[in-house]
Amino acid sequence: MQVQENISLRPYNTFHIDVAAKQFAAFSSTDELETLHAFSRFTVDSSRLLILGGGSNILFINNFSGLVLKNELKGIEIIKEDALHYYVKVSAGENWHQLVLHCIAHNYAGLENLSLIPGCVGASPMQNIGAYGVEIKDVFESLEAYDLEDKKVVTFSLNDCEFGYRESVFKRRHKGRFVILNVTYRLNKQPLFNTSYGAIEQELQGMGVKELSIQAISQAVINIRSSKLPDPAQIGNAGSFFKNPQISIEQFNILKEKYAGLPGYPVNEYNIKVAAGWLIEQCGWKGYREGDAGVHAKQALVLVNYANAGGEDIYKLSGKIIESVQNTFGITLEREVNII
Ligand code: FAD
Ligand code: EPU
Repeated sequence: MQVQENISLRPYNTFHIDVAAKQFAAFSSTDELETLHAFSRFTVDSSRLLILGGGSNILFINNFSGLVLKNELKGIEIIKEDALHYYVKVSAGENWHQLVLHCIAHNYAGLENLSLIPGCVGASPMQNIGAYGVEIKDVFESLEAYDLEDKKVVTFSLNDCEFGYRESVFKRRHKGRFVILNVTYRLNKQPLFNTSYGAIEQELQGMGVKELSIQAISQAVINIRSSKLPDPAQIGNAGSFFKNPQISIEQFNILKEKYAGLPGYPVNEYNIKVAAGWLIEQCGWKGYREGDAGVHAKQALVLVNYANAGGEDIYKLSGKIIESVQNTFGITLEREVNII
């Protein structure tokens, strides 16, 4: 555990933005976290603490004038088992996709639709990660977090987390207060296959799958994702830059008359979620490039850094996209990525 000064954060964020952190340290135990937290109170403004996982949902637009704490807590264990479930407790610094592969190899079912999402376990509850018809809330049992205010470890149940679409209490009311230390997932002994989303069925057919398995679903999801999402190792990005907006059924019906192709998915009896990627594409942004900042050519919801774009360049581009979608459709896009 060593505190380094003026460290480039470029290797630590998947947008590959080159900003510097005033101080940077990694922690691999709660004791180390407590020590570093105590240290930070003397050296930086206490609000300037950033917990970092894989840096795959962050856009840095400035140098960071505080202490960046890279989470390296490791460990996966089964803490309980009943007739239907395994309860798997995972430390926050474990890589998400490696965890998914581990669970598939051991026949713990429930995470397969969430294959290939970058980042660490500790961030999975932050925005209730989701893909292909499953969200973390569907398999969430509890988590433990270190309270930076009260300086103690607390447990959060499903209800405590207030999960929503790309939302949780940690992004809202408790922003910046808790460091997630571990998450316990409730995984199934007998798989409940979920292939209803988008192109999964089609992909499974194309793969020639005769007997459904969690391995096959995981591979189908990996294939679909790889065909349209840019690999951060090749080109900087943080996945979907915006949330899919939710609008009223009335507004949806009016837009549908003019734009017959507008994709929409009912959320409840009043609201429809519409595809932001479609809205952005219709406004002509797909494949657009301005310097090294751009809109991915295969998925308009993903903004990219071709090489040396600054965070400000990406942020400004996102502002232009918000304005144009607003002017064309009367819908306000909300950024999903954490702007730091
Ligand atoms: P970071 O980017 O390091 O952190 C994200 C936020 O959480 C920051 O505010 C950080 O301070 C906070 N944080 C991180 N760890 C902790 C902790 N232990 N305690 C407290 N706060 C913490 N997301 C989806 O939901 N679905 C997808 O399908 C999806 N696809 C993606 C595809 C690509 C190619 C990319 C690049 C990203 C994608 N994402 C997706 C977004 C991203 O992978 C997830 O949000 C992921 O959970 C972020 O994990 P991370 O460890 O990289 O978090
Ligand atoms: N679409 C377009 N043009 C585009 C992109 C999408 O017309 O350029 C249309 C598609 O044709 C489809 C619809 O939009 O009809 C939805 O597209 P897709 O299935 O690719 O998913 P998405 O809504 O764009 C969401 C999540 C992803 C997640 C996928 C799969 C959000 C903000 N994004 O994307 O999550 O992987 O569904 O479940 O909800 C992320 O959060 O970073 C992320 C990648």
